[in-house]
Amino acid sequence: MDKLLIRGGQPLRGEISISGAKNAALPILCAGLMTAEPLVLRNVPRLQDIASMLRLLRQHGVKIDEAATVRDPEAVVALATPTLHSDEAPYDIVRTMRASILVLGPLLARFGSAKVSLPGGCAIGARPVDQHIKGLQKLGAEITIEHGYIHAKAKRLKGARIVTDMVTVTGTENLMMAAALADGRTVIENAAREPEVVDLANCLIAMGAKISGAGTDRIEIDGVEALHGAEHAIVPDRIETGTFLCAAAATGVFGGSDLLLRHAAPQTLQAVIDKLAEAGAAIEHNGDWIRIRAERRLKAISVRTLPYPAFPTDMQAQFMALDCTAEGTSVLTETIFENRFMHVPELIRLGADIAIQDDTAVVKGVAGLSGAAVMATDLRASASLVIAGLVAEGETTISRIYHLDRGYERMEGKLAAVGARIERVS
Ligand code: EPZ
Repeated sequence: MDKLLIRGGQPLRGEISISGAKNAALPILCAGLMTAEPLVLRNVPRLQDIASMLRLLRQHGVKIDEAATVRDPEAVVALATPTLHSDEAPYDIVRTMRASILVLGPLLARFGSAKVSLPGGCAIGARPVDQHIKGLQKLGAEITIEHGYIHAKAKRLKGARIVTDMVTVTGTENLMMAAALADGRTVIENAAREPEVVDLANCLIAMGAKISGAGTDRIEIDGVEALHGAEHAIVPDRIETGTFLCAAAATGVFGGSDLLLRHAAPQTLQAVIDKLAEAGAAIEHNGDWIRIRAERRLKAISVRTLPYPAFPTDMQAQFMALDCTAEGTSVLTETIFENRFMHVPELIRLGADIAIQDDTAVVKGVAGLSGAAVMATDLRASASLVIAGLVAEGETTISRIYHLDRGYERMEGKLAAVGARIERVS
């Protein structure tokens, strides 16, 4: 089992190249099920979750070529599904990656049947998929749940008006893909506005889908007979970007951080940029780069996670790490998931002063953290511990970093290249 070994106390200076967004690549790979022609994707991040998704799609019968075009080495993945081998998404794959649920809409829309294992919960919450199921039933699917599997059938889905009970990112994505090949118009109200939803819509439109309103809470889809192949570059990962911004801000006290993030999409993380500026970091950005400078102790800043464009739940743990050594007391409220504070006991092991009250964590900034052995519990908690380790005096080891590898491409390499003393040890 790999561990990360970090010796804190270094500021971050230099350049980091941001990878494609995991949470855009996952639904867009599933869109590969929706056409017999090649869908060529660039800027696909090399992550554990992507490898799991490709494994799932291959067993469905998707033809996948990971060296798509010699002329463009960045063209990482080409997919095409001339025929379906299996309509089943088996439990042993789905349980390792909940985003597998995203094959449900595409399978139903193109092949009229799907047998997808219920994803089950995960560390951060129960994460039901009732909205996915209710929305597909609205589109005319017959759905039963037996022995832990969702069995769905539909000769041809029919456009409908769907209002989801809460904002759901993959729910919106599943329904948008299903509606793309349905007969007639679908309207999704209360739709998720995340940039990854917009990126999926843009890819589907390039494939011939008729979609308008992506990025707003009302998406209209006019179903078409079939989708054709396309080329699409995955949007940059706003959470990876925010994670490195927090790392640079938190380590500024050690002589000044000055980090330039390239191939980024600054306009997709405005809420995070605003909070970091409030905390005292100097941030400038334009087009596809962001530069952050910090040299003083930050001010403690409170956040409340909400659906996009508000402060993202996927940045809550990382921002908490930054608040641990900031000046003052901050309050972080997690409104999206019911159990997303598992990084707190580990941060306390590093010397943080945090008290949890229901969906709120109260962080009293301390002068410094001290290195210790800690354990990663979920993807963004792992990132939080890396940031805290970069700040802590002495040595921090982080175990179970397979959580980190699910969502960050070579994080230790990217950080070491800008001055962090971090290495992976087996
Ligand atoms: C997506 O998960 C992301 N994953 C998550 O990122 C992210 O934290 C989350 O959206 C919120 O932004 C991917 O895109 C692959 P939701 P998703 O459906 O779609 C409840 C990461 O770290 N809900 O928007 O599963 C649900 O329990 C991951 O990269 C229902 O009750 O989240 C939650 O409380 C973690 N019924 C809330 O809605 C449903 O049918 C939002 O969930 C669906 C959701």
